[in-house]
Amino acid sequence: MRFSTVPVLLGLAGPACASALARRQAGSLQSCPGYEASNVKDEGAKLTADLSLAGEACNAYGEDLTSLKLEVEYQTENRLHVKIYDADEQVYQVPESVFPRPGSDDCEAEESALAFQWMEKPFSFRVVRKSTNETLFDTSAASLVFESQYLRLRTSLPDAPHLYGLGEHTDPFQLNTTNYTRTMWNRDAYGVPGGTNLYGHHPIYFDHRGSSGTHGVFLLSSNGMDIKIDNTDGQFLEYNTLGGVLDFYFIAGPTPKDVAVQYSEIVGKPAMQPYWGFGFHQCRYGYQDVYAVAEVVANYSAAGIPLETMWTDIDYMELRRVFTLDPERFPLEKVRELVNYLHEHQQHYVVMVDPATWRGDYEAYNEGVSRDIFSKLPNGTIYVGAVWPGPTVFPDWFHPSTQGYWDDQFLKFFDADTGVDIDALWIDMNEAANFCPYPCADPDAFANKSGNPPKPPPVRNNSGRPIPGFPGDFQPPPTSQRLLVRQENGTDNWLGLPGRDLINPEYKIQNAAGSISNLTAPADILNYDGTHQYDTHNLYGSMMSIASRQALLARRPERRPLVITRSTYAGAGSHVGKWLGDNLSTWHHYKNSISGILQFASIFQVPMVGADVCGFGDNTTATLCSRWAWLGAFYPFFRNHNGFDSIAQEFYLWPEVIEASKNAIDTRYRLIDYIYTALHKQSETGLPLLNPLFFHYPEDLNTAPIDLQFFFGDDLLVSPVTEENSTDVSIYLPKDTFYDFFTHEKVEGAGSFVNLTGVAFTTMPLHIRGGSIIPLRAESANTTTEVRKKDFVLLVAVNATNQASGALYLDEGDAVEQPETSMINFSYDNGKLSVEGTFGYKTDLVIKSVTVLGANANSTGGGYQTEESAASKSFDGPISLSEASSHTL
Ligand SMILES: *[C@@H]1O[C@H](CO)[C@@H](O)[C@H](O)[C@H]1NC(C)=O
Ligand SMILES: *[C@@H]1O[C@H](CO)[C@@H](O)[C@H](O)[C@H]1NC(C)=O
Ligand SMILES: *[C@@H]1O[C@H](CO)[C@@H](O)[C@H](O)[C@H]1NC(C)=O
Ligand SMILES: *[C@@H]1O[C@H](CO)[C@@H](O)[C@H](O)[C@H]1NC(C)=O
Ligand SMILES: *[C@@H]1O[C@H](CO)[C@@H](O)[C@H](O)[C@H]1NC(C)=O
Ligand SMILES: *[C@@H]1O[C@H](CO)[C@@H](O)[C@H](O)[C@H]1NC(C)=O
Ligand SMILES: *[C@@H]1O[C@H](CO)[C@@H](O)[C@H](O)[C@H]1NC(C)=O
Ligand SMILES: *[C@@H]1O[C@H](CO)[C@@H](O)[C@H](O)[C@H]1NC(C)=O
Ligand SMILES: *[C@@H]1O[C@H](CO)[C@@H](O)[C@H](O)[C@H]1NC(C)=O
Repeated sequence: MRFSTVPVLLGLAGPACASALARRQAGSLQSCPGYEASNVKDEGAKLTADLSLAGEACNAYGEDLTSLKLEVEYQTENRLHVKIYDADEQVYQVPESVFPRPGSDDCEAEESALAFQWMEKPFSFRVVRKSTNETLFDTSAASLVFESQYLRLRTSLPDAPHLYGLGEHTDPFQLNTTNYTRTMWNRDAYGVPGGTNLYGHHPIYFDHRGSSGTHGVFLLSSNGMDIKIDNTDGQFLEYNTLGGVLDFYFIAGPTPKDVAVQYSEIVGKPAMQPYWGFGFHQCRYGYQDVYAVAEVVANYSAAGIPLETMWTDIDYMELRRVFTLDPERFPLEKVRELVNYLHEHQQHYVVMVDPATWRGDYEAYNEGVSRDIFSKLPNGTIYVGAVWPGPTVFPDWFHPSTQGYWDDQFLKFFDADTGVDIDALWIDMNEAANFCPYPCADPDAFANKSGNPPKPPPVRNNSGRPIPGFPGDFQPPPTSQRLLVRQENGTDNWLGLPGRDLINPEYKIQNAAGSISNLTAPADILNYDGTHQYDTHNLYGSMMSIASRQALLARRPERRPLVITRSTYAGAGSHVGKWLGDNLSTWHHYKNSISGILQFASIFQVPMVGADVCGFGDNTTATLCSRWAWLGAFYPFFRNHNGFDSIAQEFYLWPEVIEASKNAIDTRYRLIDYIYTALHKQSETGLPLLNPLFFHYPEDLNTAPIDLQFFFGDDLLVSPVTEENSTDVSIYLPKDTFYDFFTHEKVEGAGSFVNLTGVAFTTMPLHIRGGSIIPLRAESANTTTEVRKKDFVLLVAVNATNQASGALYLDEGDAVEQPETSMINFSYDNGKLSVEGTFGYKTDLVIKSVTVLGANANSTGGGYQTEESAASKSFDGPISLSEASSHTL
């Protein structure tokens, strides 16, 4: 066995690290003895063993645990579960209530595509793909370290591997493989800087090895971690976590799409979204009052740009307090008038809600205190930080009363008849963000920093409430009592080892915010269930997401909730959508938003995703906003959003952006059923609604690094112009047949880059992949409600063998229960079109016409030539959407 000979020092880059400390720790890590396996029980579907420390403890960043257990399960033919945990089961594990574990089919080892191999001393294991005998994962690269506050596991990898995932980040989609550290610790990250930890935690990577296959590795952990990828001692990937257990799921693929599907079987299939959610959304931080919001709605209408949904940021709140309306700037009756106006015009309204609740005498706080649902320090005091309203407290999502509290706040504040009748929800600052640096001695100092509007808080009678601190009858029961309740009922211990330094763990992850308690809820917060933020921090945003989805369902049980969150954990997509946070109005962020949407939609199973179109911070330009209107039209979630200090950037402000955005929205709306069908497919199967090029062409390794182009759905290749103010773009066309979406011109891809020149700011290169049938609405409309009334047309883009296929999913669009749905499959084969599937959705709409692109002029059939192109022919329907049929074209 080979031990690491190079000091593993990369993790010590924290600025505060004294060099003497670094030397001591380096020596210690090198001397870590690893573990020895014994008592191995191999039962075919399952293998267990005891692991005991194989020498003198190194205690590099805490205490080495002496007794571990190994559990290996062949869960399905394609999924291997390998878990290394402490024999006492005290070490924290992600609660099943937050992350339900996938079931196991108890496959026999022989049935598995993967083989688990191990060495007894020092213990290490390998995962091998049986069909090729290729080693996918090999932990003999360094000794296993399992300490109270630090775990290390390193796998060797082939040279220059093609790795994806490990979000959230704004780095290239294909991860750097040298000198690269991916830190994961959810963080409020204004400007989404590259190379740093951002809002979400998704410890899954795809390892793509071209023609020999693609596999995935998911570490089920919510602890803070640095994942290091380097080649200083052979190519490796190394997990360095602050705790938790080593709970791995290896998924075999072998194609990238197979890996996506298999990952969805672990984290859950994404939630279906309302049809209207695919409309165009407008938002900004800094609309001064309800009149300013109404003016934007009117201006969009006047400019003839379809606006589906108007959003309001924290501006609506009274002094930034959640569940309040500013009585002067957003008076209830005016807000209700605005929302009624929107609803009458088939438009929608969304506002933001933050978890941080103003600590002062008002309903949301008082009610939370009386239900005892706010997060507490270990001594039982409610933790007070500072967010927009000044001093704030944070809901403890683990508390059994928090859901009821949240539901009730929503029921009251968002009451359709008496409150703000929102159609969907936006949740923010849920990492949780905190403006008050650790240790936050004086949250009240932040009372006047709410920024906009610069209006002093009114003098209030606090009715004698001692602040900070709480009246006797609101004091929580002592910690020990709370834990006792839990343990009496508890089936899972997993609450975390006692006696840890939760605030200053010796191992410093490279959190861009400094210490792990800085600018967030501190790590020593004791959750209701007995766990600590130290272990659960990365779950906070996802838990708020789940609670918010439930609260929307409590409010309107019959409608699909659309919730857009900033912070996510693995599996968030089965509850909510996500926007990519506070980007900037730069060409760089315009470009790397593609990496962001691909990570979330294709890897993390959070398909309802988009970046702020035209950019959030800084000032946009007309050219950037034109290009971004087009790119945004091919994000699943399409919203123009803008920061408080930036110049206005609604699409109607520049003539060229008006034209660009109208064209883009027109194209998107005509394609809306195509992408709705793709979301439906992902929600049923996990097959992603966005595809990086290598998902379709895994054997063509030229596609591996491409992250400036992608497939929208399976078959539309999106290739935006990427350089500032340029009208040229070099695009990669794999060896396949493509058709220009707009001109229908056929383009044979040669597996090389092609230069496109003269791409106007009012359009974007878009190609249809040969072999596909794209259903389109015959025309667009001003709202998605109107779009739904339009007939369809089909574009049949044939492949080299003159065949094509496609699908159309139809349902009512907004209801949770959909008793009537249609799943219509189209296939085309040398002049014959067949329409098959299920036809439960009642509609009088028809397919008005079919255009066959690249049709062979000599093919048999009706021969409906069009003027568009000699190479295409069209068939004038109508074709029913209510029954199967076949047609000769
Ligand atoms: C993999 O290795 C085993 C044992 O050495 C051998 O029997 C098998 O043929 C190999 N398979 C492939 C695909 O090389
Ligand atoms: C590795 O990355 C760090 C931080 O990005 C940088 O400071 C350092 O110079 C790099 N080291 C090498 C060998 O490139
Ligand atoms: C990744 O690699 C590229 C190219 O070598 C480099 O420009 C970039 O800074 C690296 N990013 C990070 C976060 O290391
Ligand atoms: C609990 O701990 C916090 C932080 O150390 C401290 O500010 C507070 O006064 C303590 N509360 C009680 C009741 O001891
Ligand atoms: C524990 O179980 C008892 C009896 O079933 C129940 O009343 C109580 O609410 C439970 N407590 C918790 C924290 O689940
Ligand atoms: C917390 O963040 C602030 C602001 O970035 C920084 O100045 C401070 O050093 C950080 N503190 C810790 C303990 O990391
Ligand atoms: C954005 O434009 C405004 C108005 O011209 C200006 O005051 C501000 O400084 C600009 N912001 C940036 C980041 O350039
Ligand atoms: C690009 O065009 C914008 C106008 O939309 C202009 O403000 C900007 O300066 C141009 N950038 C360059 C590098 O010429
Ligand atoms: C595309 O343009 C780039 C830069 O102008 C040039 O280097 C490249 O050779 C061109 N490629 C083709 C296929 O024309």
